[in-house]
Amino acid sequence: MINIGIIGYGYWGPNLVRNFAETPSIQVAAVADLDPKKLAVVQRRYPTVKTTTDHRDLLADPHIDAIAIATPVSTHFELALAALRAGKHVWLEKPMTETSEQAARLIDEAQKRKLVLLVDHTFIYTGAVAKMKEIIQSGDLGQVYYYDSIRVNLGLFQRDVSVISDLAVHDFSILDYLLGEHPVAVAANGTNHFPGTPENLAYVNLFYDSGTIAHTSVSWLAPVKVRQILVGGSKKMITYDDLEPSEKVKVYDKGVSFTDDPEKIQEMRVGYRTGDMWAPKLPLTEALSVESAHFADCIANGKTPMTDGQLGLRVVEIIEASHKSMRRKVRRNGETINIESRGKAA
Ligand SMILES: NC(=O)c1ccc[n+]([C@@H]2O[C@H](COP(=O)([O-])OP(=O)(O)OC[C@H]3O[C@@H](n4cnc5c(N)ncnc54)[C@H](O)[C@@H]3O)[C@@H](O)[C@H]2O)c1
Repeated sequence: MINIGIIGYGYWGPNLVRNFAETPSIQVAAVADLDPKKLAVVQRRYPTVKTTTDHRDLLADPHIDAIAIATPVSTHFELALAALRAGKHVWLEKPMTETSEQAARLIDEAQKRKLVLLVDHTFIYTGAVAKMKEIIQSGDLGQVYYYDSIRVNLGLFQRDVSVISDLAVHDFSILDYLLGEHPVAVAANGTNHFPGTPENLAYVNLFYDSGTIAHTSVSWLAPVKVRQILVGGSKKMITYDDLEPSEKVKVYDKGVSFTDDPEKIQEMRVGYRTGDMWAPKLPLTEALSVESAHFADCIANGKTPMTDGQLGLRVVEIIEASHKSMRRKVRRNGETINIESRGKAA
């Protein structure tokens, strides 16, 4: 049985506590939050769980094996470092840290102490993304030409991070998992419509050595909620609509082919293929539940998480490069920034 303490019971923390509480090999031991009103909610829902406004109580508790951190990004590095130094396994919310240097330091600390460090890139544990990976790996999609995503709504404006760190981060982790490749360059445009706040709208392009090109459009200032991804391959194409209750993923046997036949050189050489569409059956298990069981398995059996510190670091590198491109002075923003990776390859 793994005893876990959770730091941060704001918007996301309650989802973690609920899923940990339902995982057979995990026991929720304590929750820390600066706000006593949030702790009162914990006491009502989970009367046996200890609560505290001081996260150091969790780090000092010898019965606690692991710490989950669901606080604002600006606090991730200090809290995770303190937890690792206290000998605890760590579940860290996305994005892992504010800088890639901090991410690399946490990886070192975890490695040195032989502790599990999982970064909560939740989408990797969804049935939809697992199915997309399976289809790409099987070769059914052919060469991946492009990935195009839109992730917009009238969102929760964050105070400490841009919309890239909040929303595009999901695409960066999904791309890392699907392609098994780190982008070599990034170009991003974006803006904040309200002075003194982080960017609330951004368009990010990612370039890969294999030739795949990716784009994500993210915003907290849209009248409707859209969560859609298109993946275009040389043989088939996929759509993923996360708001669809069922049939989230659809595979289309559509595409084009060009002929080199010299006889047809004067004609249009393009042929269109419009075959069937199918919607694969997806498991209904909540991603956090799968991830929580995986975290316990990694701790119990010394395994490396699917979303380990290295994945977390690669994602932070893409965020950093996107910010660098987006934050260049007027007329230079959107310039292509090369990514020099300090992390291990995907
Ligand atoms: N994986 C996902 O899909 C997903 C979704 C939403 C949020 N998140 C991540 O979860 C984290 C938290 O986001 P949120 O939206 O829940 O934020 P939030 O502001 O709603 O909640 C953060 C909570 O942390 C508490 N807190 C801050 N510092 C603390 C400290 N030192 N000790 C104890 N409590 C402290 C605050 O009082 C607050 O209740 C962020 O990193 C965010 O990116 C991940």
